[in-house]
Amino acid sequence: MSTVPEQEGRASDELVRSLLNAGSLTPDWAESFHAVPRSWFLPDRYWSHDMTTGRNVAVSREEDPEEWARQAFADVPIVTQWDDGRHSGTEPGTVPTSSASMPSVVASMLRDLGVHSGMRVLEIGTGTGWNAGLLTHRLGSENVVSLEIDAAVTVRARTALTRAGLHPTVVCADGALGYPDAAPYNRVIATAGVRTIPRAWLEQSDSGGLILAPFGTHYSNEDALVNLTVGNDGSASGPFLRPVEFMKLRAQRLDWDRFKDHVTLPYPGNAARSSTHLRLADLGDRWSAQRFAVGLAVPHVAHVVNRAPAGDGSSVWLFSTTERAWACAEFPDDGEPVVYQDGPRRLWDEVERALGWWADQQRPPLDCFGLSVSSEGELRPWLADRSNPVPSFA
Ligand SMILES: C[S@@+](CC[C@H](N)C(=O)[O-])C[C@H]1O[C@@H](n2cnc3c(N)ncnc32)[C@H](O)[C@@H]1O
Repeated sequence: MSTVPEQEGRASDELVRSLLNAGSLTPDWAESFHAVPRSWFLPDRYWSHDMTTGRNVAVSREEDPEEWARQAFADVPIVTQWDDGRHSGTEPGTVPTSSASMPSVVASMLRDLGVHSGMRVLEIGTGTGWNAGLLTHRLGSENVVSLEIDAAVTVRARTALTRAGLHPTVVCADGALGYPDAAPYNRVIATAGVRTIPRAWLEQSDSGGLILAPFGTHYSNEDALVNLTVGNDGSASGPFLRPVEFMKLRAQRLDWDRFKDHVTLPYPGNAARSSTHLRLADLGDRWSAQRFAVGLAVPHVAHVVNRAPAGDGSSVWLFSTTERAWACAEFPDDGEPVVYQDGPRRLWDEVERALGWWADQQRPPLDCFGLSVSSEGELRPWLADRSNPVPSFA
């Protein structure tokens, strides 16, 4: 293994200390975090993501080595690729498609993975290779397989890992198919968000194994970490732990273009018009429990809130991902909201009923929910325990 130079070591130590103090890093992982610094896996130019403003700021090692090193050890996500590699230049691209996740998220996911020596781990989404490097330091090269769909990203990660003296199996492949050659695994950790749990992960897991994945619905871009225990029959079940937000598996991204012909123009056409007792705030904000709960209870629907310039109110759009149904609730700054709905589903009514159900359940937080997955991959979200399924309002 390579050794950590002194200056880099001090910055890395400081990050480790703050992660330990915050509780996201557990002492059993501290040695690996010391030995495998994040900076070894970062390209010379990256974009540091500001969690508060959502801005992505380009940082160049050549132009500003101090800032490059500072961000490398800051608790921020770092974007390393845009638009599946089709973007070049310093300005951010359209969609961030590979990154080094926030150190506190990396540490807490490794904590929740609950590994012991000798365990075999499959990682989905190699990205920079940092997480694979940490796992390899802890468990040994022979016990870690990491899958990355992007060829250029795979090559960079492999190079960084080799330079660090770490040799996990890194394969350029679709992580949704797993890697049967080295199965079974005691742990599967996905570092890309998913909208389904691929059957291959269940089939390639040992009985009693864990699958830790950022899972969500197309209702929003947010995910929640789900910790599934795989049973003898190949099904899996477990709780949601907390909100996170990850880049999605390539095939599970939501393509907004598919809705461009949903609404017949001129709007609202022959759509049914009604009112609603809901206010915009009732739908919840980013990472709110009700937003997540509605996503679980109203399947196959995407939603977006358009905030018009001051004085013009806001509108909430809902689109079915499986048929040509849509709804739009207009919330003027003054006056009563108006709802338009069209197509074979009444999407606003479904969301309204789901929010009513969530309120009737005493407004449970996200970590009261869980997910069961049958061996065929069928999803059944639940509240409090698996015998209490979340109803579907579709
Ligand atoms: C958030 S990054 C992973 C961060 C990484 N674990 C690290 O330590 O830097 C997500 C990665 O998942 C990859 N990815 C997306 N879809 C994938 C798929 N179907 N199979 C494997 N990797 C995929 C992306 O290319 C991206 O590099």
